[in-house]
Amino acid sequence: MNWETERVLSTSKFFRAFSPSNIALAKYWGKRDVKLNLPTNGSLSVTLKSFGSFTTVEFDPSFSHDRLILNGAHEPENKMNKVARVLDEVRALAKTSMRARVQSMNNFPTAAGLASSASGLSAVTFAASQALGLNLDRAKLSEIARKGSGSACRSFWEGFVEWKQGDFDDGTDSVGSSVATKNHMPMKIFIAVVNQSQKNHASTGGMEHTKKTSPFFKAWVEHAQKQTPEIKTAVLSKDFEKLALLVESNCIAMHASAMASIPGIFYWQPQTLEIIQKVYQMRSMGLNLFFTIDAGPNVVIFSQEDSSSKVLSELNTLGVRILNTEIGDGARAFDPNEWQGEA
Ligand code: PMV
Repeated sequence: MNWETERVLSTSKFFRAFSPSNIALAKYWGKRDVKLNLPTNGSLSVTLKSFGSFTTVEFDPSFSHDRLILNGAHEPENKMNKVARVLDEVRALAKTSMRARVQSMNNFPTAAGLASSASGLSAVTFAASQALGLNLDRAKLSEIARKGSGSACRSFWEGFVEWKQGDFDDGTDSVGSSVATKNHMPMKIFIAVVNQSQKNHASTGGMEHTKKTSPFFKAWVEHAQKQTPEIKTAVLSKDFEKLALLVESNCIAMHASAMASIPGIFYWQPQTLEIIQKVYQMRSMGLNLFFTIDAGPNVVIFSQEDSSSKVLSELNTLGVRILNTEIGDGARAFDPNEWQGEA
């Protein structure tokens, strides 16, 4: 299937973008402002090379309302909130009221905790602003995309990206910035897909529930505020062993805070734990790797290049689908000839 199921109008203002997903090594889990998606702590992510959203945004005076065609299907209007928020911001900057048609396709399983909202909302922000002739810098794009989905603000740079918590009430200082390039600390990235279906608690609801009811939420925020700079230091000093310890601790603390909510939120499934055990086992065999898990059951495994072929063959014994990629580039223009279909 093509990512555009409807033909782009010759009269419209349009732009095609690809934006990658990103995986947080230091997690964002908790909002101090729900409307602006301002976080309770900073976070740090890795940009994925080959998984993301191919997106065409088109503005035309003949469109009566905004529409989103996601993975070939028309999304109902009540699921348009995040996209509409971003489109409204871009329209205000471009001083236009033209409505948009957005056609977007992910080349990885949607809503399975692989941050499809990060790639999707960053792609819409980039394509919409380019379509309307705005030449926004990446920090401004990041600020707009954040209002659609927090993690989307980290998809505009290659390599390692930090999202600062920020101090301002309007969120203008709560944006992404580059920490290190994709070649700084090369790693193979494997995604063990435990379950491709939609996750059972969307991240916003999950975060709010954790914040309101979990006795561990405060401890999580303190832990995250201390750990994010430590994770950044481990990246900058290329200290893989330290990074492995910190990233796994950060992930487990985030999930523990969610699990302790009342009622509890469990993103993990039995196979998730099986894969964690496998990672521990591989490490005891001398392989260099670590895991992290977003708001879903899938496990993302980072491996140093010298360990990666052994890691992959061990992961293949688990009987789950393994997607594999590397660290890659941020959001960019997309030439339709690059389209290779779904992963
Ligand atoms: O940006 P959201 O609302 O999709 O939330 C992302 C939450 C996590 O993926 C669990 C953590 C993160 O920092 O990406």
